[in-house]
Parts: sequence; C-alpha cells; structure tokens
Amino acid sequence: MTKTVSVNDEVASYLEEFGVTDLSVYERSRKATIEEFREASVLQITPEQADFLKLLINIGGYRNILELGTFTGYSALSMALAMGKGGRVFTVDKCLRATSVARKLWGHYPIGANIELMISDAMDALEGLISKKKEFDFIFIDADKINYINYYQLCSKLLSKKGVMVFDNVLWRGDVADSSKRKKYVQQIHSFNQFVKQDGRFTTSIFSVGDGMMVCQSA
Ligand SMILES: C[S@@+](CC[C@H](N)C(=O)[O-])C[C@H]1O[C@@H](n2cnc3c(N)ncnc32)[C@H](O)[C@@H]1O
Repeated sequence: MTKTVSVNDEVASYLEEFGVTDLSVYERSRKATIEEFREASVLQITPEQADFLKLLINIGGYRNILELGTFTGYSALSMALAMGKGGRVFTVDKCLRATSVARKLWGHYPIGANIELMISDAMDALEGLISKKKEFDFIFIDADKINYINYYQLCSKLLSKKGVMVFDNVLWRGDVADSSKRKKYVQQIHSFNQFVKQDGRFTTSIFSVGDGMMVCQSA
C-alpha cells in the first residue's frame, strides 16, 4: 500500500491555501505566462516546488545559482527571492519569446537585478561556463529532458564541493514507473534516472514534489 498522498485538484488547492508561503509571485507570473502562451503555463514549476527549492537553498546557504530552462522566469525569480540580496542567479534559455516575459516579470522586483539571463542553447552555455572555470553551488535543471544525461555530466563539472543539483520532471506524471507508458520521451527520463543511480557520484533522492524532483548532492 502506498503512503504517498496523490495530489488531485482538491489536495492541490488545499496545498495552495495552507502549504505554500507566498502565492503572489506565482499568480503574477502565471497571469503573464497565460497571456503570452495560454496553456503552456503548465511548463512552470508549481508554488510547492518553488517552496521546496527555497527550503534547499536556505538550508544549504547557497548564493550562486545556475538554472537551465528559464521559460517565463518564475523559478529563477523564486530562487533569487529565496537567497535575498547576497545571491545571484545565472539562467539560460534559448527562447526569446518566453524570456522576454521573464524580463518583464523580474522588472517588478528589486531582486530581479540579481538575475542574469543568457539566451543560448544550454549545451553551448555549459561548455562556455566550463571553459571559463565558473562554479555554482546550486544548479536547477529544467530544460529539454532528452539532454538530462549531458546536463548531469557537464553540470557536475560546474558544481562546488558541497553543492546540489536538482532536476525537474523525473517522475513525468508517474509514467516512468509504468513500462507500458514509457513512450520515447518518458523512456529518456527513465534512462536518466537509471544512469544517475548507477553513476553513484552523488547522494541522490527523488521527491514526488510537483512532477518529481531529483536532488543530487556532492558526497
Ligand atoms: C519547463 S520550461 C522551464 C520552466 C521554468 N523553469 C519555470 O519554472 O518557470 C523549459 C524551458 O527550457 C527551454 N529549453 C528547452 N531546451 C533547451 C535548450 N536545449 N537550451 C536552452 N533552453 C532550452 C525552453 O525554451 C523552455 O523555456
């Protein structure tokens, strides 16, 4: 028997009412995203996931964050707000249309000045950061899932000693656990989960927050 609560619509609204610290940023961001993309607002992390990232950032005292997959800026802003004045977020996305919504959102918050956006393919950006010997203590990966193994390999070169990498969507609506539902895309995520497990370089856990978040911590 499972002990995990399945999040139906009622539980989701209960969580929004009692489980999330601040919905105002999400609401503003969601509205702007829907205006530009309609249903594509499902690409954003949930407020519950934003709180989970905030918790990890606060516990670890992280101040230098890399994000792959900016979209319309909600996750980057949530992480910048979690760190406060002394923190920086460097975020990468190849989509000009989505990131112009992000820039407008960040403009509403003084902390938005602590977010640096790079419009680029994520792999190119990572190669560049590695060649410049950059280091980050928290890396959030939420770009194309097909490249998750590549992102894992490259981001591990950019991670500081006690740093953490977090990957979103690793449960893909639960489909990863059912081999009959593993279409190509889901199979790629499953292969990534298998790869990380056998790699063993990090202490790794998967949390069923949102669409499933994997946390990899340097040993
Ligand atoms: C799921 S959305 C990110 C959502 C965002 N983290 C949030 O919570 O608001 C994925 C984003 O990754 C970007 N993306 C996908 N493949 C990419 C690539 N190869 N390089 C850079 N960005 C990529 C897409 O343009 C999209 O904006």
